[in-house]
Amino acid sequence: MQGISEGVVESRAVRVLRRPALQFFIRMVTMCGMTSEIKGLNDLDLIQPPAALAPITARTEALRFDMASEPRTGALLRALAASKPGGRLLEMGTGTGVATAWILDGMDARATLTSVDVNPEHQQAAHDFLGNDSRLTLVLEDGIEFLLSQPAASYDFVFADALPGKFEGLEECLKVVRPGGFYIIDDIIPQAKWPAGHAEKVPRLVNQLAGDERFVLLPLNWATGILVAVKR
Ligand SMILES: C[S@@+](CC[C@H](N)C(=O)[O-])C[C@H]1O[C@@H](n2cnc3c(N)ncnc32)[C@H](O)[C@@H]1O
Repeated sequence: MQGISEGVVESRAVRVLRRPALQFFIRMVTMCGMTSEIKGLNDLDLIQPPAALAPITARTEALRFDMASEPRTGALLRALAASKPGGRLLEMGTGTGVATAWILDGMDARATLTSVDVNPEHQQAAHDFLGNDSRLTLVLEDGIEFLLSQPAASYDFVFADALPGKFEGLEECLKVVRPGGFYIIDDIIPQAKWPAGHAEKVPRLVNQLAGDERFVLLPLNWATGILVAVKR
């Protein structure tokens, strides 16, 4: 009897260990351990930030704006922006222009970027340090109002980094993405600074996107957790 019950316990444990989510987690932990052992290979050492970033970061700190994108997010956005020569790119939530600077740095000379924010003080930093770039249009407007005014399938790349386009007006935002275009969100890994209610909203949003057959999903354990959805 003893042997049989041990066998039952063991097979349950084996079943739990076979769950894809747990296997994924174990692989991630193992990989993290391995990465730290590879001497001299630090991804951030390989990432050259855009020149405009230093003054924008200084202004961001002076404004005590703590929602700016981090360098790994910026590097990913820059690489994805580079894949859209001549493309129409959109950022929902300019903030002070941190991600804006990274995205512009990846774009070619024919591509254009529109960045929308409702806060004039934050967006002024982007005006001051990036305003001379003729590829950039800064729009001071409520994000939902802006999205409602945009034609369907009109952008090749959307970085949805404001409440509108992410937790509100999701459908309006997904609608403006062209086939082959990207819809990108970050901050999907839980963080101590998340406001109340955010921990419930994020998985709901991720699940909704995962179930949307119009998009192919790439969830990345990178920076604050990034989700790239590519429109079919
Ligand atoms: C996470 S921050 C953007 C950070 C920026 N994208 C970056 O990478 O540094 C979110 C921004 O959304 C803006 N925002 C909040 N509500 C908005 C609304 N209704 N319409 C447009 N922007 C809004 C905030 O003012 C804030 O600057």
